[in-house]
Amino acid sequence: MNIRPRINRWTAARRRLLFSDAMLDSLVQPHFVVEGNGVDEPIQGMPGIHQQSVDVLLKTIAEDASHGLRAVMLFGVVAAHAKDAHATEAHNHGSHLHQAITQIKSTFGDEVVVMTDVCLCTATDHGHCGLVHDGEVVNDASVEVLCSIAVSHALAGADYVCASDMMDGRVSAIRSSLEAAGATSTGILSYSVKYASSFYGPFRHAAQSSPEFGDRATHQMDTRSGYEEAILEANLDETEGADIIMVKPGLPYLDVVRKVADAVVRPVAVYNVSGEYAMVMSAQTDDDDHRDMVVEVLTAFKRAGASVIVTYHAREAAKKQWTA
Ligand code: PBG
Repeated sequence: MNIRPRINRWTAARRRLLFSDAMLDSLVQPHFVVEGNGVDEPIQGMPGIHQQSVDVLLKTIAEDASHGLRAVMLFGVVAAHAKDAHATEAHNHGSHLHQAITQIKSTFGDEVVVMTDVCLCTATDHGHCGLVHDGEVVNDASVEVLCSIAVSHALAGADYVCASDMMDGRVSAIRSSLEAAGATSTGILSYSVKYASSFYGPFRHAAQSSPEFGDRATHQMDTRSGYEEAILEANLDETEGADIIMVKPGLPYLDVVRKVADAVVRPVAVYNVSGEYAMVMSAQTDDDDHRDMVVEVLTAFKRAGASVIVTYHAREAAKKQWTA
């Protein structure tokens, strides 16, 4: 089976995230998980966002949940010594990311929706989103690794595995692997329409995932490409079994969010990426203007058709109960 509509209804928290219209219910907070204990390291260019070890992360999520923020997107930051050509650490069941998934689930149960980034770039020594053969990012062999990563996250307890790599055919391959592993209630959020954007800079610093050579233009979408390409990718992923279709970045592609939302039947997510966050945070504003700016941005995503908004602003918006 490659489409299971029940996945998006599986828990009350998933239904709230996907089907409630309230702004705060729609937000997902990204987190950068590092190895160690007591680590709470500010990230350059992203004020208010820290790399955190699992113990600190659990406290952060508890505080956020008390403000009504109940969805997280986890990125595992892999130490340089653990990176290799095959992204082995990304599907190491004992990694700190896997521990984070397990512990969030054992602490919060189904009260928190756990989404996990499925990509190779944080765990490869060359920083690419796939395996590299003869200087090229190869597709099908990379998809096999993506499937191992996705299954490892699902078995640790992830609600949604989020494929951010842009390899062809990975959604159907991941769905089949999840089925084979018995992970029939784990969903797939696909970064279906992901551009080779210049707005990812602060993230790559935070996740230590910059490519050592070349760029991501052979797999991420060309920033000049039109709506046809976006709709092709979104439709393919929907047919392959994606439960949520993502467009990324957000602000420069609001028109694409609208077009995709009109073209697909599954819920649409948007990623308000690190460079967009950095721009807003570096604006010289007082507190009221800052709040208005963030609410205006979030409202624009809703208007464009996003049911889910992945944003670094989620924590402050929830804490201060900013509603549109
Ligand atoms: C991993 C990934 C990236 C982002 C999310 N997942 C970086 C990239 O594609 O280079 C960017 C998120 C952000 O900028 O906030 N493939």
